[in-house]
Amino acid sequence: MTNEGSNILLRVAVGLVLGAGCMASGARASSAQVGPGVVPLPGVSWTEGSGGDRTVTYADGVAEILLENCLNCHREGSIAPMSLEGYERARSYASLIRAKVESRQMPPWPLDKGVGIQRFKNDISLTDEEIETIVSWVDQGAPLGDPAAVPEPPAWPDWEDAWKYTDVFDRSPDMVIRSPAYTVVANGMDQYPPLEVALDELVEERWIRAIEIRPGTPETRAVFHHANSYVLMPGEDGDNPDRAELAASAMGLEGYIYPEDTGRLLRPGSTVSFGMHLVPTVRDVEAVLELGVWFHESRPEFETPGEVHFRISQTTGFGGFPGHSTDPQISGSWPDLILPPNRVVTYRSTYVLDKPARIYSLRGHFHLRAKSAVLEVVYPDGRYELINKLDWAHRWHVSFLYEDDAMPLLPRGTTVIATAVFDNTADNPSNPDPDQWVMWGSRTVDEMSHFRYGVTWFDDEADFERLVRERERASDEPEPVAASGL
Ligand code: HEC
Repeated sequence: MTNEGSNILLRVAVGLVLGAGCMASGARASSAQVGPGVVPLPGVSWTEGSGGDRTVTYADGVAEILLENCLNCHREGSIAPMSLEGYERARSYASLIRAKVESRQMPPWPLDKGVGIQRFKNDISLTDEEIETIVSWVDQGAPLGDPAAVPEPPAWPDWEDAWKYTDVFDRSPDMVIRSPAYTVVANGMDQYPPLEVALDELVEERWIRAIEIRPGTPETRAVFHHANSYVLMPGEDGDNPDRAELAASAMGLEGYIYPEDTGRLLRPGSTVSFGMHLVPTVRDVEAVLELGVWFHESRPEFETPGEVHFRISQTTGFGGFPGHSTDPQISGSWPDLILPPNRVVTYRSTYVLDKPARIYSLRGHFHLRAKSAVLEVVYPDGRYELINKLDWAHRWHVSFLYEDDAMPLLPRGTTVIATAVFDNTADNPSNPDPDQWVMWGSRTVDEMSHFRYGVTWFDDEADFERLVRERERASDEPEPVAASGL
């Protein structure tokens, strides 16, 4: 307690000193020098706007932000519509970049940063400071600065080696599962080939630590809409294969990193099947899907079934947890989502956990009318917590992977509340036709409504309670105070 008290005092003191520094630099702003060759955009003054208090150049600051946060997608041959490589290109897109960055539409991280948990393994969003740098660079006329100081772009990896999790684990995948090749015929018809592959190379039980899914070749990307993959795995006694979803892929959705103490079992004799949605182009294209798998060295403490599905729809009430199907009397196996024309509608589902759970990932799935989705919980002792609010951006299917020590720990008896807001009016820019009644369905113009979250269930309450105590102990430890020279 004493410790904590003095830490808070220290932090206040550091804050005061930093605050004073900011004020001082703010005061200097009015005399900021404009470098040679800097042409301001018309009507924009130098000191206007956030961070407009120093000259920002491409060479000094902006190039590095683009390199680290954008070029992964915005370079020749990657997924974004245009390359932002080099000063000239960045300069020509400056005002569009400003708009997308300031509104936090780019990089794609469709999550409300103002509420809920904010610590994720795959957070690609910019810091406020980075946004300020870009905004003031554009407001200052997007100057180049010293050409000799522009940082060199890295050597981008070849497609073969470009697995994202290679950096996380410091090694290429332990196993790559490739679908058979399928020729997407240029006939104008969307194609959904049933493909599968037997995991012959798997000779003993292994536990997956992480799994990444991607189009297997650059050509595949041109025809790739989205894909699911499933595993058909023999039971413990070698028979009764069980089919379970393994991983999905879509824009922004690349895979899963399970918690360090958790794995997903893969038994020899398993078969992986792929459900791909492929969209033809003007010529025939060979399409292949790949799964990169990193294994635990040995059996981890806990097992995960992967993601569970939680439907958000009014009258089905209880979500679609495994073993808790929706009420067939009301809706069969499909939720009865109905969105009237020109209306904003909120749907909600609740579910009471009958086992303790730890949530390691969260994503939403909706189509064009959804605006946002919120996951909240009420703990058995009555405490309430807003876990996260997703701002739905229909192209992006980001799976938010919580840091190990930020994963929600939910005791048995916790009420999980999922809420989704749909805007079927003309105010929703994604809405193709606000005069339509919209129902649940798989076409893009229909709507869907569910959360999927990655979960570890605890059969033994003692395991769960130990994790809760460990978390409490870790959060009691004093936060490190930045070395401040005080
Ligand atoms: C994960 C990949 C990815 C990252 C990272 C990314 N983008 Fe994008 N960006 C895209 C894709 C794909 C599109 C087109 C679809 C869309 O707008 O959602 C896009 C669209 C844009 C657009 C709008 C283009 C248009 O014509 O409307 C701008 C501007 C932009 N990005 C800038 C940036 C900047 C600046 C960064 C880094 C700060 C960045 N993006 C990071 C993938 C990415």
